[in-house]
Amino acid sequence: MKKQGCEIEAVGINYKIYKHRTRRFSYPFKIFTTTTTIVEQEEQSEPEPEPEPEFRHVLKNVTCRAKPWEILAIVGPSGAGKSTLLEVLAGRLTPQTGSFLVNQKPINKTHFKKISGYVTQKDTLFPLLTVQETFIFTAKLRLNLKPAILNSRVNSLLNELGLTHVASTRIGDDRIRGVSGGERRRVSIGIDVIHDPQVLILDEPTSGLDSTSALQIIDMLKTMAETQGRTIILSIHQPGFRIVKLFNSVLLMADGSVLHHGTVDQLSLHLLSMGLLLPLHVNIVEFAIDAVETLQPPRNRSEDVMKEEGFGEESRWRNVVIMVCFITFYRFISYVVLRCRCSCICLKEGLT
Ligand SMILES: Nc1ncnc2c1ncn2[C@@H]1O[C@H](COP(=O)(O)OP(=O)(O)OP(=O)(O)O)[C@@H](O)[C@H]1O
Ligand SMILES: [Mg+2]
Repeated sequence: MKKQGCEIEAVGINYKIYKHRTRRFSYPFKIFTTTTTIVEQEEQSEPEPEPEPEFRHVLKNVTCRAKPWEILAIVGPSGAGKSTLLEVLAGRLTPQTGSFLVNQKPINKTHFKKISGYVTQKDTLFPLLTVQETFIFTAKLRLNLKPAILNSRVNSLLNELGLTHVASTRIGDDRIRGVSGGERRRVSIGIDVIHDPQVLILDEPTSGLDSTSALQIIDMLKTMAETQGRTIILSIHQPGFRIVKLFNSVLLMADGSVLHHGTVDQLSLHLLSMGLLLPLHVNIVEFAIDAVETLQPPRNRSEDVMKEEGFGEESRWRNVVIMVCFITFYRFISYVVLRCRCSCICLKEGLT
């Protein structure tokens, strides 16, 4: 029987960080003052108005959806708000506005924590414990199982994460040599999947890893999604070609806003509609991150001006049609030139 998954939907998330301006410091124990300072002080003696709270808009009306059996990758330049969004989705931060739905129903935070796992960017592990001991320790803390069932759960997890061969190797750290970086990341993921969560949220699971280890991690997450119906939401920097192929959908963010939410194919169409032709041998996600400036709608401009500049729906489709016509025309010209060259060679050689 197919396991029921969790569809996660965040609608209109706004998250602001408030910061207060610091008051000017006045030294309370000053004894000697000049006449001018007394006058100045008298002038300033009026009560200062309360400092206006300033805020930083970190997430601006973010709407996204992650489906079960799929991987949603959150990409964008540094400071785009990826980690903040993941923390909001994991229930660690509470946004000022917006709603969060699980299977189209409002969530209960306590219940959601039970059915989800959140893997932070930094590995926080005990360096002297072995991989197996780490899982046993976590399982004892998180699960209330009999020893035999607990051991079998740990063994199946070791197998699922491809860590059986390093089960008795200690984790290690900068001073004590232990498992490799990729294996350590997998141990961190294991700690958060030991309770078999339906939703797994990961902040940059591949950071600091070489391309092969990064691919192994994403491949493992893909298997988790496809075999167990988990909903995987992750943020990632510079995914390789092979990794991008494993994503079911991509959320492109910049400056706290969503610039694209859809499949990788839809992303290339979106770029094309903005007049951006993907160069050969360039990764689509990297290209999109480089092009966020072009994709961002300009601020403080009227809708009419934006339409004229190609940000309206009509202009977007007009751009797609123009680009498709241009590509077809270019291919036709290349074909004609090639035929002409062939004919010339045939004439020279005396072939018919
Ligand atoms: N608690 C906070 N206090 C002040 N600024 C914050 C706080 N949390 C986030 N920010 C700011 O919000 C913005 C988004 O931060 P966030 O960590 O979500 O970015 P990111 O996309 O994950 O970046 P990176 O790819 O570098 O990890 C940043 O400019 C950051 O400085
Ligand atoms: Mg981050």
